[in-house]
Amino acid sequence: MRILLNIVCLIVAALVSSAARAQEPVRWRGGAQAAAIERRIDRLIASMTLEEKVGQLHLYGRREGFDYAEIRAGRVGNVMNFVDPVEMAAVQKAARESRLKIPLLIGLDAVHGVSTYFPLPLGQAATFNPGLAEEAALWTAREARALGINWTFAPMVDMGRDPRWGRLLEGAGEDVHLSNVMAAARTRGYQAGGVAATAKHFVGYGGGEGGRDYNTAWIPVEQLHDLHLPPFRASLDAGSLSVMASFNSVNGVPATAHKGMLSDLLRGSWRFRGLVVSDFGSIPELIKHGIARDEPEAARKALAAGIDIDMMGFVYARHLAAEVRAGRVPMVQVEAAVRRVLRVKFHAGMDRMADIDPKTAEVALQSQAARDAARRNARESIILLDNNGILPLRAAQAKRVLVVGALARADQERVWTDPAGVPRRPIEGLDAALQRLLGPVSDVFFQPGVTSYCGLELAQRAAVIEAAAAADVIVAKLGEDCEFMGEGASRTRLTLPGVQDALLEDLIASGKPVVLVLATGRPLVLTHLKGRLAALVQTFHAGSEGRAAIAEVLTGAFNPSGKTPMSFPRSVGQIPVYYDHLPTGRPETRIRQRYESIYIDEANQPLYPFGFGLSYTDFGFSDLAVDVAGAGREAVISVSVTLANRGARDGQEVVQLYVRQPQASISRPVRQLKAFDKIMLKAGETRRVTLVVKASDLGYHDAQGGHVVEPGRFDVFVGNSALADLKGDFVLARRPSRAGQAGALR
Ligand code: BGC
Repeated sequence: MRILLNIVCLIVAALVSSAARAQEPVRWRGGAQAAAIERRIDRLIASMTLEEKVGQLHLYGRREGFDYAEIRAGRVGNVMNFVDPVEMAAVQKAARESRLKIPLLIGLDAVHGVSTYFPLPLGQAATFNPGLAEEAALWTAREARALGINWTFAPMVDMGRDPRWGRLLEGAGEDVHLSNVMAAARTRGYQAGGVAATAKHFVGYGGGEGGRDYNTAWIPVEQLHDLHLPPFRASLDAGSLSVMASFNSVNGVPATAHKGMLSDLLRGSWRFRGLVVSDFGSIPELIKHGIARDEPEAARKALAAGIDIDMMGFVYARHLAAEVRAGRVPMVQVEAAVRRVLRVKFHAGMDRMADIDPKTAEVALQSQAARDAARRNARESIILLDNNGILPLRAAQAKRVLVVGALARADQERVWTDPAGVPRRPIEGLDAALQRLLGPVSDVFFQPGVTSYCGLELAQRAAVIEAAAAADVIVAKLGEDCEFMGEGASRTRLTLPGVQDALLEDLIASGKPVVLVLATGRPLVLTHLKGRLAALVQTFHAGSEGRAAIAEVLTGAFNPSGKTPMSFPRSVGQIPVYYDHLPTGRPETRIRQRYESIYIDEANQPLYPFGFGLSYTDFGFSDLAVDVAGAGREAVISVSVTLANRGARDGQEVVQLYVRQPQASISRPVRQLKAFDKIMLKAGETRRVTLVVKASDLGYHDAQGGHVVEPGRFDVFVGNSALADLKGDFVLARRPSRAGQAGALR
């Protein structure tokens, strides 16, 4: 028996390692390799027919009756939304049987996992731990590669400043520094795991008016450069091979036809050499945007602006060749786009990627290492927003624990972004996980409370009320799911969907302490619950290991360290509400009087600020010191503080550094996050922590898009949220200039 077991283990190990071997990292090649790739592309383009060229610019999605002959004929150069390894091997084989044998890009939205699920990207941002985000992307890519996917439509690096916008769960929230850090980490992770990353959606998708998906964005040049563009730059600097254009119009021009953004800025100023893919069907949408009369014109405008690949719009495939023949589209434009597509394929080594073997593919899914990474990520993504002392639950006090909510048990915590059809393991219920951790002294019992996990109907209300009466403590897991978050799920009411608020009121009415665990895709408005819950725990769907991690946090096996990646509004009417706003001439005072910039019926501050999250221990900050080395934009500022764990438990704290320039030529934000670090301290331990900022990161863009760093005084604030109040300052000196001129440092 033992021998048999060993043999099985060896076979599994061999299969796993052969699947792992296929995962060569994806990256830009330099020097002689890059030159050889360009020569190879020259030769290929010289030998391609017009139809083969157009084929490279066409991205076709999996559908019933998908015609492999189109691939063999060279008319389809890229495919998407395949997840079955058997089909994946077959499409790539069809490409090998084509005349030029150019490999396919096989794309998928591998957003936060493929088989092992990590927290939603917004939850990963809440970890304030880029190492975990990188690891999540790495495992996501490894699982994707094992199935044959070599291109992911991720990371989404759009700013998420409006919680009405359902899509912000794919990004890192409201802060540009955190978004930059996460964009770079996720890009590195995906590409290290063997899939080409796509920074999307270029640009301003998160700026849609009213938080409505696909809606018009009007973004001043200064804000475009200071807020929306930097995460793209961060992803490209981390090596991203592709970019996806956004659906919406930006300052009057649909992003899909925005030559200024795609060609002049991205390819011109930024020298991006990779490919740009349209969003799903967005080229023919240029007709509805009102800038193209028909499909051929839409194709011409998109190509001329700089869209290389038409994702599911079919207009390149249908019209480009004819447009070239009619002399309306220059061949050089088509060839330039083909070059960029081939460049990505060859730099990524797609021609050398080993064929996947469908028999071994699934062995590489759900490895223990991937699950461990998902657990680490889930733990740190959990944010403790309120706690009256009930948490961590102790078995002695929590003898009878009622767990409520279909979300606590749903077989699969599957969310909108996840590809269907990939095998997954069932996830342990939250009640089972709590029982396991609290041990036999406690009795954990369960009521779904609602009939489905989007909470549209109450289930057995009387039984829930009875169970609540019998409990010492109630843990309710409620939230947004199904149709309530993600793409196309903008909302005007940021409440718990369906009847979940009514369910919660029943639980609170029982008089028993209620611990609310939220799983949402955005911050909800929670003002009416303030002071009425024993504890409030926020997760952004924490993935395959999420429930086990939540149970660890609730029982104290893990000390929470997640921080809000967005401000939580007090009411929808406050939106937009973000911490790094500009000052006004009539700021809110303590008296709050009329003719100040306030609402007469609501405070200005959010309910929970950006960067906020509690711990089971207590951290203190003291002894701030600032050191400036050098002058001008080359200066480096080091800010040191003493961080003390003053409580009785080990724990992690996110040390956050905010900077403000109180006087400048233009109004500057009241504060901006410029650096952070997550520090683990033992109970009673104290450590000196130093955060470093480059003076070049203290600047802003002017109305022409030029970058300016103004010398002068800066205030710094250090602490554990955007309300950080340990304050210091420094002076950024002008670099001695030969001309000895005063003014900004450009
Ligand atoms: C989304 C993209 C996504 C594409 C393919 C679109 O609707 O906006 O982000 O990559 O679909 O699934």
